[in-house]
Amino acid sequence: MSMDTSSMNGKLLKVEDLRVWFELRRWGFGRAGYVRAVDGVNFTLEAGEAIGIVGESGCGKTTLMKTILGLNTPTDGSIWFQGQDLSDKGRRETRDYRAMVGFVQQDPYGALAPFMNVNRTLEEPLIVNGVRDRNVRKQRIHDVMKEVKMEPVEEFLPKFPHMLSGGQQQRIVIARSMILEPKLIVADEPVSMLDASVRVEILKLLRGLQDSHHLAVIYVTHDLSTVRYFSERIFVMYAAKLVEKATVDELLNNFMHPYTEALLAATSDPDAENALIMKDVPPGEPPSLIEPPPGCRFHPRCPKLIEGLCEVKEPPDFEPVPGHQVACWLYQ
Ligand SMILES: Nc1ncnc2c1ncn2[C@@H]1O[C@H](COP(=O)(O)OP(=O)(O)O)[C@@H](O)[C@H]1O
Ligand SMILES: [Mg+2]
Repeated sequence: MSMDTSSMNGKLLKVEDLRVWFELRRWGFGRAGYVRAVDGVNFTLEAGEAIGIVGESGCGKTTLMKTILGLNTPTDGSIWFQGQDLSDKGRRETRDYRAMVGFVQQDPYGALAPFMNVNRTLEEPLIVNGVRDRNVRKQRIHDVMKEVKMEPVEEFLPKFPHMLSGGQQQRIVIARSMILEPKLIVADEPVSMLDASVRVEILKLLRGLQDSHHLAVIYVTHDLSTVRYFSERIFVMYAAKLVEKATVDELLNNFMHPYTEALLAATSDPDAENALIMKDVPPGEPPSLIEPPPGCRFHPRCPKLIEGLCEVKEPPDFEPVPGHQVACWLYQ
């Protein structure tokens, strides 16, 4: 297995020029093509760090997350976790990797097997990962149930998913994602299907777990109003690419990409709580991921288009402020 300890200093995860293309089915004599769901994504994540990924529906967020989880195979590029290249992994190492990365999906009910009660849902990963001692498993299940505040524990263990509320189901999904003491949790729109009344609680729970376990978390959302409470950095995704990456403060106060600007509307409200609201998505259609626009993918919708450049040449990442990257020719 190849190691890359030199450039991984302190980094938990490194995603390098990642591409995930899905082949289209060819009907009749039509030309076969690809959906370029992830198309050249780069970022690193430190141990214990929380990042938020925001972007419109269909821009490739879930595909990116599933690929990081090892559920999709990259078409190109690489993913390094603790200095190891995931593409080199054998079956056993893949299982070990899955144990280090937890997944919290959008739809908790869909994520839970309807015929498995809470106890079995939480016990199964322990069994699969070789925790042979029954008492050890029992203790671990108890601990994790307490952490997700599903108490009294004994009352919930025999319950099946349909007997739980949406919020409780998501707590069980979070418990399951935590049961093997992972280093990273991928939470893909974890509250978007829950009642507004329980969303904040669930986000607070995730944030609390992140702090107390020094967990890295990737929080995927299309809701910018929650991401800033949750993460240290924000990545903005547009048409299968990360177009802007910065700390939360930088992104709020010094956003650069015209797409980010269109997503954010700074209000004159001095109350920081309302400093950001999600505006309507900028006019124009989100681009096709089958035949993305040439040059910058945002150029057909961009109010700041530089003619002769933006529609011709794809912008690389520029870094006008240290740690703040933006893929836009305005900052060359
Ligand atoms: N397994 C798949 N096969 C073919 N196309 C897919 C597959 N998964 C996702 N896609 C396509 O990839 C694009 C990105 O989807 P997705 O990653 O779900 O975006 P998001 O999570 O941002 O809404 C969409 O056009 C979607 O239809
Ligand atoms: Mg999605």
